[in-house]
Amino acid sequence: MAAACSLSSLLSLQTSLEYGLVDADSVQEKERLVYQYLKKVDERETDLKVPEFQEGLEWLNTKEPLFLSKQLSGKVVVLDFFTYCCINCMHILPDLHALEQKHSDKDGVVVIGVHSAKFPNEKILDNIKSAIIRYNITHPVVNDPDGSLWQDLEVSCWPTLVILGPRGNMLYSLVGEGHKDRLLLYCSTALHFYKEKGEIKDHRIGIDLYGNSVPSSLLAFPSKVILDSTGEKLVISDTGHHRILIAKRNGQLLYAIGGKMSDTENHLIRMVDLLEEKVSTIAGVGMQGTDKEGGAFGKQQPISSPWDLALGTAGSNEYNVLWIAMAGTHQIWALFLDDGKLPKGSEIKKGTCVRFAGSGNEENRNNAYPHKAGFAQPSGLSLALEEPWNCIFIADSESSTIRMVSLKDGAVKHLVGGERDPVNLFAFGDIDGVGFNAKLQHPLGVAWNKQKGLLYVADSYNHKIKVVDPTTKECTTLAGTGEAGSSFAQNLTDCAFNEPGGLAVNENGTLLYIADTNNHQIKILDLEAQHVSLLPITLQLADTVDSLRSPVRPPKQSRSSPRIEMSSVTVSVGQSLQCELALSLPADTKLTEEAPSLWALSSEGNDWLQGQNTVGQIQDLSIPQLIPVTIPLGQPVTGLVLVVDVFLYFCSKKDGACMMKGVTFRQPLQLSSSNQTSTSKVMLQYSF
Ligand SMILES: *[C@@H]1O[C@H](CO)[C@@H](O)[C@H](O)[C@H]1NC(C)=O
Ligand SMILES: *[C@@H]1O[C@H](CO)[C@@H](O)[C@H](O)[C@H]1NC(C)=O
Ligand SMILES: *[C@@H]1O[C@H](CO)[C@@H](O)[C@H](O)[C@H]1NC(C)=O
Ligand SMILES: *[C@@H]1O[C@H](CO)[C@@H](O)[C@H](O)[C@H]1NC(C)=O
Repeated sequence: MAAACSLSSLLSLQTSLEYGLVDADSVQEKERLVYQYLKKVDERETDLKVPEFQEGLEWLNTKEPLFLSKQLSGKVVVLDFFTYCCINCMHILPDLHALEQKHSDKDGVVVIGVHSAKFPNEKILDNIKSAIIRYNITHPVVNDPDGSLWQDLEVSCWPTLVILGPRGNMLYSLVGEGHKDRLLLYCSTALHFYKEKGEIKDHRIGIDLYGNSVPSSLLAFPSKVILDSTGEKLVISDTGHHRILIAKRNGQLLYAIGGKMSDTENHLIRMVDLLEEKVSTIAGVGMQGTDKEGGAFGKQQPISSPWDLALGTAGSNEYNVLWIAMAGTHQIWALFLDDGKLPKGSEIKKGTCVRFAGSGNEENRNNAYPHKAGFAQPSGLSLALEEPWNCIFIADSESSTIRMVSLKDGAVKHLVGGERDPVNLFAFGDIDGVGFNAKLQHPLGVAWNKQKGLLYVADSYNHKIKVVDPTTKECTTLAGTGEAGSSFAQNLTDCAFNEPGGLAVNENGTLLYIADTNNHQIKILDLEAQHVSLLPITLQLADTVDSLRSPVRPPKQSRSSPRIEMSSVTVSVGQSLQCELALSLPADTKLTEEAPSLWALSSEGNDWLQGQNTVGQIQDLSIPQLIPVTIPLGQPVTGLVLVVDVFLYFCSKKDGACMMKGVTFRQPLQLSSSNQTSTSKVMLQYSF
């Protein structure tokens, strides 16, 4: 039996080191203190050894399960006890990334995510897979669904880092976020210490990334969707691609903004001016803030993980305030776009960014005084400006509740979910009911339907859309089976979603738009006809090319997609080449009519396809799909390769299950000096 020791004995040893470090004024002095500490701790090995990873656990990003006594022997190992919903866990990913940049496994440092679920939905490997792609986690992750290592070590808080020496001996622990400097200091000193003792080994541990950083679809993990004030345009946060898409209501894309910018992990609020075609920062400083009061000018005010926004009014002016769900500090903030005042507050100048509600403690606390209330990772906002509501509805994810904050007096009240104890953040479930009797699991989005007087809730971990009547506090399932999936059944409760995160209601309250995050889709729930359909997002092919109104790039092919190497064909300058796609689907499936199945053409090496059509839609597989290419002047004679990526969306005719699959064709070209004029043809064939 493993003689596990709890973290508490380690932490008491570490306390004197931590005190010493506070007073140390040079790097050398700090390193000396840590080195002395390691000497002491290293001798206590017997009672500070962690138990071995259990056999049979599921590992991601590795070729095979890892063990402390095998691949991890001879390494400084950082165990990151995390759960994927937890904002504080997301906050330390950049710190871990910095450590991994500094020391590789070959140098002797290995980071391992020990996924220790809070919510039942987080124990499921598929959901963790989605999360590691969404958050670009590239180190090994082990799913410990029963939290056995967590319990053995008596970990009590997400995130907790436990740093081990080369024999699986515990060296230090760091609880919570904000310890980047300590983490780097502790690891490099441990590496130094054990290298001197000859205990560090330089073998690789066999990383095998689970997937590409973003999946190969037009949308990747869309998290929010809203309609503009005219009701004509949809704005989608295409989170996995780090961009905002703006589409017409029929799904035709108009703009793609960003791609490598924006906004939660930059801890910024950005403004996109579509007329001027400019993007600017209006709040935040570009790194995570810890301030819980605010009051500075937007661009000087550090903020922490803004998760949702709602444009509203405060004081007498029209639309003068941007309400912010500040998930990172568990608060609701206001950014003043014009002069105004908070409910029962004094005048606030234009440009100021300030806390409105929430003490900053992660709690489920309701209170008539907004600063005394507590939220737990508020992640979705929706305004109800008419009486008697005049409030912001809030999806408070970690407490699994829907709450409301009054815009008249700032009082924070409970609506549904959770329980009365303000510090219990584990009162979740999937129960239709009234008030506290209703249970949700990690709700992320809310949308108010003023015509119907109903509030819709994206109950993400129950994979459901629920509806709440704020008058009776009754919460019922509107759509979703309770299991992750994707289907468009006749009956709303047979339609399946996968961690839906954002909602929007159209102008007349007849349609509900759903960001079905892990399905990479926007869906439309027709509230009158009671059925769900896919928003057919279509590429606008003939758009102008500039930085903001960029052509919507085709998706990236997933690493698991097959690559077909074609044999080389001979072409000459000026000649046209006809690529014919011959694709077939598995039996009993059909192309998803409204989804953007497409081909995309690119060239390896220099960009010789400029000015040619490089993207096309695929609507009917029974018609041969022809892709014309012209070989322009001035090409090198060797190394010409044409790449055709195909992305098909199709659904089973039997159970309606939908999927996206891709294939890549690599067609090398040989340039001849002869003047061929006839069109050459190549056939690109693949059966899915
Ligand atoms: C994901 O992380 C890797 C390194 O771990 C980095 O090279 C890559 O750029 C990241 N990708 C995205 C989309 O952030
Ligand atoms: C929808 O399906 C549920 C469960 O399968 C069933 O109880 C309900 O009667 C169905 N409703 C309709 C309108 O078919
Ligand atoms: C509501 O608006 C939609 C467009 O958003 C329109 O198609 C529909 O006819 C409208 N319905 C009613 C009842 O006004
Ligand atoms: C090909 O055509 C070009 C002009 O179009 C000409 O200058 C060249 O001599 C021709 N080459 C051959 C091999 O016929």
